[in-house]
Amino acid sequence: MTHHYAQNFSLANRVVLITGASSGIGAHLARVAASAGAQVVLAARRVERLAQLAADIQAQGGQALSVVLDVTDRASVEAAFAAAEAHFGVVEVVLNNAGIGNGQRPLEISEEEWRAMLSTNLDGVWRVAQVAAQRLAQAGRGGSIVNVASILGLRVGTGYSHYCAAKAGVVQLTKSLALELARFGIRVNAIAPGYFKTEMNEAFFAGDKGDGYIRAMVPMRRLGELEELEGPFLLLASDAGAFMTGSVLAVDGGHLVGSL
Ligand code: NAI
Repeated sequence: MTHHYAQNFSLANRVVLITGASSGIGAHLARVAASAGAQVVLAARRVERLAQLAADIQAQGGQALSVVLDVTDRASVEAAFAAAEAHFGVVEVVLNNAGIGNGQRPLEISEEEWRAMLSTNLDGVWRVAQVAAQRLAQAGRGGSIVNVASILGLRVGTGYSHYCAAKAGVVQLTKSLALELARFGIRVNAIAPGYFKTEMNEAFFAGDKGDGYIRAMVPMRRLGELEELEGPFLLLASDAGAFMTGSVLAVDGGHLVGSL
């Protein structure tokens, strides 16, 4: 007898909305969702930056729609979900990925910088999750919300007090929403990535300082590759994770369990 495990990880005919889909983790997982069969809604502030990604997905036989979305703006979030729903139907899976991550010393963070960090990385995640859940509840449908937190939401690192506070908020929000949305059939989980190779950190980690840090701190002694987020994302987004809600999956090469 064979068991088709892979089918559980399918996103066939699921409408999947990804925030911050224009670069990095969001762009990568948008391609993955499309190849898993999803109807993918690429959401970002600069919609023109999504055109190439949408075209690539379509050229490979996938389905993609680009929508304008600024997670800090309620009206923009509402409009993005309305556009997605009009085109594909109710959004059933959300990857709450948009975020900012500039380092700053604690004595130098201005009111504006603090607010911008919380506004994008915590309020934005809440706003997108709430709008998604409202629309699912209205439609009487279940779904899956996957929040992108960080290992800095679970431990702290120098130069990131505002980021750590926001990401810790995402971790607690994930658990609270999991508790309260279970009765609507909506699962809420988070991925807590460690350090991944993206355009913004490539140069730092290629140098001696970055390389030394990674070797000293990460038990696996290397950065993560974007491909290594595919399994965790598909697990939480699909029916393979049907009994998972409120969990926070660290994907970090063991960084969180690094020796003290
Ligand atoms: P990235 O900078 O390539 O992607 C972030 C995306 O969010 C960008 O497309 C950006 O335009 C978008 N964004 C920012 N503010 C927005 C807003 N107000 N509305 C809509 N979109 C907005 O960086 P990356 O690495 O792909 O980051 C994605 C997520 O992963 C972020 O939440 C980040 O905090 C998190 N993360 C990344 C890690 C890494 O090592 N790269 C480690 C841990 C967490």
